[in-house]
Amino acid sequence: MRLIVVSNRLPLTAVQKDGEIIFQESVGGLVTGISAYLNSTQNGPDAEKMDYIWIGWPGINVSGKEKKEEFKKRTLNEYKCHPVFISDKVMDKFYNGFCNKTIWPLFHYFPTYTAYDMETWKQYQSVNESFCEAIMEVAEPNDLIWIHDYQLMTLPKMVRKKLPNVKIGYFHHIPFPAFEMFRLLPRAWGEDILEGLLGADLIGFHTHTYTNYFLTNVLRISGYEHDMGQIIMDNRVVKADTFPMGIDFDKFNNAGKKSEVLEEKRNFENTFGKKKVIVSIDRLDYSKGVINRLKAFEIFLDKNPIWREKVVMVIVVVPSRVGVESYQLMKRQIDEFVGKINGNYGNITWTPIIYQYKYLSFAPLLALYNVSDAILVTPLRDGMNLVAKEYVASRYDKTGMLILSEMAGAAEELGEAIIINPNDLFALADAIKQAIEMPMEEQIRRNTILQKRLARYNVEKWATDFIHSLHEVREEQIRFEVKRLVDSARVQLIEDFKIAKKRVIFSDYDGTLTAIVRSPELAAPNAEILEIIKRLSEQEATDFFIVSGRDKEFLQKHLGHLNISFIAEHGVWLKDKTDTEWKMIQPISTDWKHKLLPLFELYTDRLPGSFVEEKDFSIAWHYRKAEAESAPAYAQALFDSLNTHYTKYDLQVLSGSKVIEVRSASVNKGNAIVNYLGKKEYDFILTMGDDWTDEDMFRVLPEEAYSIKVGIIPSLGKYNVHTYNEIVELLNELSLV
Ligand code: UDP
Ligand code: G6P
Repeated sequence: MRLIVVSNRLPLTAVQKDGEIIFQESVGGLVTGISAYLNSTQNGPDAEKMDYIWIGWPGINVSGKEKKEEFKKRTLNEYKCHPVFISDKVMDKFYNGFCNKTIWPLFHYFPTYTAYDMETWKQYQSVNESFCEAIMEVAEPNDLIWIHDYQLMTLPKMVRKKLPNVKIGYFHHIPFPAFEMFRLLPRAWGEDILEGLLGADLIGFHTHTYTNYFLTNVLRISGYEHDMGQIIMDNRVVKADTFPMGIDFDKFNNAGKKSEVLEEKRNFENTFGKKKVIVSIDRLDYSKGVINRLKAFEIFLDKNPIWREKVVMVIVVVPSRVGVESYQLMKRQIDEFVGKINGNYGNITWTPIIYQYKYLSFAPLLALYNVSDAILVTPLRDGMNLVAKEYVASRYDKTGMLILSEMAGAAEELGEAIIINPNDLFALADAIKQAIEMPMEEQIRRNTILQKRLARYNVEKWATDFIHSLHEVREEQIRFEVKRLVDSARVQLIEDFKIAKKRVIFSDYDGTLTAIVRSPELAAPNAEILEIIKRLSEQEATDFFIVSGRDKEFLQKHLGHLNISFIAEHGVWLKDKTDTEWKMIQPISTDWKHKLLPLFELYTDRLPGSFVEEKDFSIAWHYRKAEAESAPAYAQALFDSLNTHYTKYDLQVLSGSKVIEVRSASVNKGNAIVNYLGKKEYDFILTMGDDWTDEDMFRVLPEEAYSIKVGIIPSLGKYNVHTYNEIVELLNELSLV
């Protein structure tokens, strides 16, 4: 297997220096995580090394064909990277625009910073197209394509279109917002983003909360339900799941004793002396809560004069997204605040805050982690936050306190840290005091637990877990694929139909001969399917049955003119093509109906958009038009309370496609057709349906019969087709033999 990693930013950033292009390390959790995983795959003998290539933006645009080629060669040979070149103008609209003025603030719950600009949205899609083209330049059918992060959310669908069978994973490194936030995006953008993501086979998130929010948005906006994170699309299975990204634990845990780190550490120790050191390290970003941290430190100094001159705060802010105004503003605010606190509290011999606006490479970063007594990781919102994990891992003596915001994804795993709400500045100030005064044994106790967890679920485990799950989703897919009615199986069915002397077709109606629509009354058959059924009904050797949950009035009105047979209300009523009247298949009591109707009405009042359909021998409660998120909970509650009545009245409670239905227990589609199967000497039997009520038909069939389930879901049906369109096509062919 070859892995193709795709992310907006490559692990290297090219910069022009004195007319030369030089490569610098990129910064951010995504790059750290993926690089660590890829490095881990390069240990051991050559034959065991995983082959990979990383596709992404190299940080600059290169003009001229030759220069581009030369650049490509260099990045490929030296770094296994394939660059995507994008003009500065387009990149500005895509990166500074849609990515970092729309998605980033909105997904981090900063709606007031969010811009809604059609032009940048268009560029977002077009840059995603450019990434798709870059993937096509290198991808082969057996590659595994792993796309990363919010800059490329519409890409999975684009790749799927070009390479329908390739394995595609997507990992989302930032929070996925709740519906109330996500819906602020214009509807069409939101739909395209969700549909784009659903092009992947597996969609991963850092926390269960993000996974659940994603699934809720998919349900409410795209209309797809899920079962334990598994979404059945028309023709594919897609899974959303949680994979909290880890770190290279050993690398951080062992680094503290390395000479280059020890040397840096000694320099720091000389500067700080015996003062307690609190560190803070982030990319410049308003989501990181640096200002709140400074405010809390000010409160801490104010409330604890005893600690003045005995503590120093080291703030490292790494330049990031300098082209976005809100970042520039943030920078000015930090500069001013640091100046203010140092001015108010500092003196000739003591500067309370040491502030650096620069990137730290590994050795000084580790030295800083190790020299400190506590770290403040207090984002207002953060997808995961690796700095928090790295800090804990790098404390090889298990001392040092992590103060962590509950708004960081990492807080779900690091409960032994001092967890704070970053908006509660007084609690934050107290946490600083608690951290630097915490007894050593308690620090060690907490960090021992944390380190164990981080060592176990490290970055290698995270990535292999993700890739393993991706393979599993595809295996699930293949299980359905082998049952698909395609190629030779389909040819055989048509052949068997042709040579048969006496054929029968039992077909469900909604979802099988027509699409499922929001209002049941809208599901009138179209001219095409009417024509096909008419042709089949004219074949002397073919009996065509519609076996439906619909009432007889509906079937009579829309299909009654055809010379075919009907079974209505799941098997209550029958009208053979030779009959003019409908007759009841067996006598059925309806005493229970007036007793249960009030219960149905109660639920209809509770859930706007739902409605009751009273049939002769059953009652159905439809919730297709109701608000999609809460409807399943109401349906489940109604289902449960109906189930308490069923033994009393010999009833059956059915949970169908967005409908709960109650009817007499002896009535089902299987019982209705079984008499027919025995009556005539059929040498070709075909049954088709999409709902679980159709499983009753599949259950009573003889071995040699054909049964087709519409949809990619487990079924007793011998074959699956993706959508009702495939049924229409098949019937069309059968009608023309
Ligand atoms: N980092 C670094 N040097 C710095 C500051 C940060 O190498 O001066 C690295 C840090 O070690 C971590 C990453 O940048 O691996 C930041 O990831 P995190 O998930 O904490 O935040 P993000 O920047 O992705 O929002
Ligand atoms: C976060 C995002 C990454 C991004 C990184 C650095 O970690 O999740 O996708 O690469 O920040 O941001 P930048 O805009 O410099 O790539």
